[in-house]
Amino acid sequence: MCGIVGYIGTQAAAPIILDGLAKLEYRGYDSTGMAVFDGNKINITKAPGRLKVLEELTHGGESMPGHVGVGHTRWATHGVPNMTNAHPHFNKEGTIAVVHNGIIENYLKLRHMLEEKEYQFVSETDTEVVVQLLDYYYRGNPLEAITKVLHRVEGSYGLGVIFADHPDQLFAVRKDSPLIVGQNETGCFIASDVPAILKYTRKVYYVENQEIVRLRQDHMHFYTEDEEEITKEAVYIDWDSNAAEKAGYEHFMLKEMYEQPKTVADTLLPRLKGNDIDIEELHMSNEELEAVKKIHIVACGSAYHTGVTGKYVIEGLARIPVEVDLASEFRYRNPILEEGAMVVVISQSGETADTLAALRESKKRGFKVLGIVNVVGSSIAREADNVMYTWAGPEIAVATTKAYSAQLIALYLLAMKMAQAKKTISGEEFGAMIEDLKKIPDQIELLLGNKEKIQRFANRYIGAKDIFFIGRGIDYSISLEGSLKLKEISYIHSEAYAAGELKHGTISLIEEGTLVAAVATQPALYAKTISNMIEVKARGAFLLAVTNEGNNEIEKAADYVIYIPKTNDYFTNSLAIIPLQLFGYYVAVGKGCDVDKPRNLAKSVTVE
Ligand code: F6R
Repeated sequence: MCGIVGYIGTQAAAPIILDGLAKLEYRGYDSTGMAVFDGNKINITKAPGRLKVLEELTHGGESMPGHVGVGHTRWATHGVPNMTNAHPHFNKEGTIAVVHNGIIENYLKLRHMLEEKEYQFVSETDTEVVVQLLDYYYRGNPLEAITKVLHRVEGSYGLGVIFADHPDQLFAVRKDSPLIVGQNETGCFIASDVPAILKYTRKVYYVENQEIVRLRQDHMHFYTEDEEEITKEAVYIDWDSNAAEKAGYEHFMLKEMYEQPKTVADTLLPRLKGNDIDIEELHMSNEELEAVKKIHIVACGSAYHTGVTGKYVIEGLARIPVEVDLASEFRYRNPILEEGAMVVVISQSGETADTLAALRESKKRGFKVLGIVNVVGSSIAREADNVMYTWAGPEIAVATTKAYSAQLIALYLLAMKMAQAKKTISGEEFGAMIEDLKKIPDQIELLLGNKEKIQRFANRYIGAKDIFFIGRGIDYSISLEGSLKLKEISYIHSEAYAAGELKHGTISLIEEGTLVAAVATQPALYAKTISNMIEVKARGAFLLAVTNEGNNEIEKAADYVIYIPKTNDYFTNSLAIIPLQLFGYYVAVGKGCDVDKPRNLAKSVTVE
């Protein structure tokens, strides 16, 4: 989603801004822009398309000299991705420039109010009201104008603002849209995400809701929206910056798929204590776990899919009812949360607007929220009552792979811990499951080793029109993710169906040669799934099956079979998803798609 970078200091601002924006490219965007004060006036360059266009237009920033500036990568929400709608936006005189992430919800009302006062708008964006409103309130004191604007705008915003009258200052403002500021010996930085400025500084401050930061070359001051000064603690970021490089892989997605054995081990092993599980961050005793009567899992996209798996695993193992909701639905459906309920939100980025809103809604109703989150220090990580981190490291490819795998592990551990507290599984079963969990990293490695075979198979489907995924129980949740991986990066239409549901409509879509991928990893459901496979085969489908080693029976129905190593039935998702990720990846590569940055998508969806 949109990215913001700003700099004020002794160095040339433009190259630093371009470099920072490049680090945020993975988040998805469709236009770019930059504003730099050159000593006399603010110069602005904008362009639709990729960042390299802005780099070429500004000769790597050289044609925009100056020591203070802001830059932006825009993911269009209001108005098409063209030059006019790209950020920065500016007032008529070009003396104030603004970059904005988020959505100003009452922009139409504000726009009408300003138009009545003879303000002319040039773009279709919601952001332009911010700069026009700043112009309206500005009487020589930038901080005062900003606070007045904050009292008028509704919605979410991360803002970077410069004023030609005050070139020794750069402003950062935040509400419900991530924003950090940082400092090094040359100057101060603003960014919508840590990787943008990691090369320059590891000392950062998280800007909280309704806070304003005034950055100067050598210091920063923090204010409330009522202009009261506040103090803040710096956070030291100790990420490995190499994690954000491709390390010889053709795409980040491939690199991240190959990192899965490690991310699974990193999420799992620190929580295994001998033959026991210790999820310290839960801060819940066995008695408290035992008292949980219901679990609500809330998430979006792939994180929602891990939630669907989590439902089967938690209900199966711990016999606790689980409801899984899409966060965008949960927040508005007036959910029934009863005494004894526990809310679990799952998010890689920790910034997904709907998931964050669902968390806040649950807390408002007095329920404790556990966040399963990957990004340390993200909004969800900071606002959840307890946080169980997935130690997947920075995930750059828009399509999630390694964070998804780590989320599964977190859910298995939670389910087992619950089952132990509820005494719904025996010590023997528990011990055997721990042994199976420990094998998962090596088993994933083994499956990744099969990539050439899957690539050859995938190449046959580059021209496919539709591809379906079917499965029952946990296999249905695997199908959901397999289908999403394929369609989001290859643009081939795909749907996932509970195998038993096919004949209620979807089967009419099957034509001669349509690929149907059947996931069959649950022995208790083999026979049922095979009969659904035979039904589609009879209608011309070509059948790919993903099943457990030893289930050779399936070869009678399937045209092509991928076997996964033996594991506990509850953990099969962790293995079966690997060939499906590889399949989606290689179909997209074969089609020449921009695998890491699929069209229209953003890595972190900070608007609802
Ligand atoms: C798909 C994908 C998305 C995310 C979803 C939630 O590959 O990555 O569906 O899973 O946007 O994002 P997070 O986990 O950051 O809340």
